[in-house]
Formats: sequence, C-alpha cells, structure tokens
Amino acid sequence: MAGIYEGRTALVTGASSGLGAAYARGLAARGADLVLVARRQERLDALAEALRARGGKAEVVTADLAQPDAAKGVMATLDAPPDILVNNAGFGLPGAYAATPWEAQRDFIQLMVTAYAQLAHIANASMHERGWGRIVNVASVAGLVPGSAGHTLYGASKAFLVGFSQSLAAEGAAAGVRAQACCPGFTHTEFHDANGTRERMNALPGWMWMEAADVVEGSLDALEDGPVVYVPGGVNKALARFSRLIPRAAAERLMNRQSATFRRTDAGAPSSSGSGSGASSGSTTTR
Ligand SMILES: NC(=O)c1ccc[n+]([C@@H]2O[C@H](COP(=O)([O-])OP(=O)(O)OC[C@H]3O[C@@H](n4cnc5c(N)ncnc54)[C@H](OP(=O)(O)O)[C@@H]3O)[C@@H](O)[C@H]2O)c1
Repeated sequence: MAGIYEGRTALVTGASSGLGAAYARGLAARGADLVLVARRQERLDALAEALRARGGKAEVVTADLAQPDAAKGVMATLDAPPDILVNNAGFGLPGAYAATPWEAQRDFIQLMVTAYAQLAHIANASMHERGWGRIVNVASVAGLVPGSAGHTLYGASKAFLVGFSQSLAAEGAAAGVRAQACCPGFTHTEFHDANGTRERMNALPGWMWMEAADVVEGSLDALEDGPVVYVPGGVNKALARFSRLIPRAAAERLMNRQSATFRRTDAGAPSSSGSGSGASSGSTTTR
C-alpha cells in the first residue's frame, strides 16, 4: 500500500496523540501530505517535524474543536478541503448524565458529533466534485453495543458515527468517495489518562487491549476494500458479533454488569475538554 495516497492531502484531527498520531504516520507512509489538527501545538510541531524528516509534507493547524464553528475555521486555513479526512479527536466524559453539568455535555456533543459532521460536510462536497475521497470516522465498539450507566453520551455519539458513516458511504459509492466507521475497543493511548479512568482500566486484562498502530494499519487497509463498519482485532470483532446475536435485553443486562468495572457513574468529569492544554477559545492557527 506504500505510495497509494501520493499527491493526496489528509487532514487528521486529534493528531497530537494516540490514534490520531498513528493515523498521521500511517497516511504519511502511504504517501499523503498531512494536515495535523489538535490543541497542543508543540506535540503537532514535533510530529510534523518527524514526518518531514522522513521526506513527507506536514502542516499544523491548532484548534479547539469543542468551540462552535472551529471546524469551519480549520477548513478555512487550507487552500482546498482535504482528499482524506480522519475525524478522530475525542475524549471520554465520565460520570452519570444527571451528575455532569450541561456545559460539559454541550461541549462534548460539539466535539464528538457536530465537529465531525461539519468537517465531513465541507470535505464531502469537494470530494464528490473531484470524484475521489476518503472519510474515516473514529467511532468505537461502544457504538455497537447497548448503552450502559455512566459516560452517557459516549456510546450514543459513537453509534451516531456508525450510522453517519454508513450513509456517507452509500451516498459516495458512485462518486468514488469511501467512508469508514473505525470501531476500536480498548487501545493504549492517552484516552484513559485524559478522562481519569486509568487506574480502573489498568485492572483489565492485557488481552483486551490493542496498540494504536495496529488499529490504524487495519483501518487504513480496510478503507480501500474492507467493510464500512471496521472493527479491529479478534476480541473486539467477537464482542461486536456476540452483542448483535444475543437477545437485546440480555445484551443490555450483560453490558451494564460488565461496564460497572470500567465506567464511572459518580460526578466524575475532570473537565469538559479532555487532555489538552488547549488553544484559546475558538482560536484556529496554522503553521
Ligand atoms: N483509546 C481507546 O481505548 C479508544 C477506544 C475506542 C475509540 N477511541 C476513540 O479514539 C479517538 C482518539 O482517542 P485516543 O484514544 O487516541 O485518545 P488520546 O490519546 O487522548 O487522543 C485524543 C486526541 O484528541 C484531541 N482532542 C481532544 N479534545 C480536543 C478538542 N477539544 N479539540 C481538538 N482536539 C482535541 C487531543 O489533542 P489535544 O489535547 O492536543 O487537543 C488528542 O490528540 C477518540 O475519538 C476516542 O473516542 C479510543
């Protein structure tokens, strides 16, 4: 697959860490020029530098995508919308719905639903015009199983991305535009540090975990000829299949019992903005 995206531009949100940084590396290895988006500029600069040192092209755009219209601001910094969009930036919001302030929920929806939809809306239109495009929405296995107590909007936002990607794929099929909902399970990144659940997560067995680079390699390979809903790893595939096959009520009971070990239902939100030190509200800068 080396060189498959030569001459294409790829925009990756949440590229300062974890899966986003791995997508940036994977796409660069396939020949794409990168636009790296997140709040922590030093992280993005370091990754851009590393990609350039390997002969690639990389540009940095710092933005807080939880701010209304930041997505539009990011696209406005570019000469043209990207050929490849990886919607990935995100965090988990621990706690029960009633115990978490509305402002935190509102910002969560803005980042995890609205910004994804807005970036895809802008990119998708030009992909259709060009007759070529790729959109990856990083969802989660949580979007394929029943919702459970705690982290209330997380699974719901990921379920949205699954249906959204299926519709984008159906609308884009005749125009050369492919879409994927990548649905990882537990993956070693900074995600669980950012949402304050690391200690709980460390108690889960090692076989439940994947490395970000492995998730991304499978996702990018599947983007060309795999299913729209891509589930990385044998354990996650088995979980998704099992949840689909057993009766709904049993799946709901099982999910609630299991999730009690890794989901918080107290007033647990550390902040509404995840891990980053952050750009100032609504700001978008490019380098
Ligand atoms: N790790 C897992 O177990 C797992 C499993 C399934 C799905 N996922 C999904 O994978 C995606 C990536 O998460 P990760 O696991 O790679 O976690 P991570 O290492 O914490 O990375 C999250 C990324 O999102 C960016 N981000 C967070 N809030 C942002 C904001 N307001 N504006 C712009 N960027 C923001 C962060 O950058 P800055 O802080 O620099 O802004 C960072 O680059 C998320 O959508 C997550 O839901 C993760």
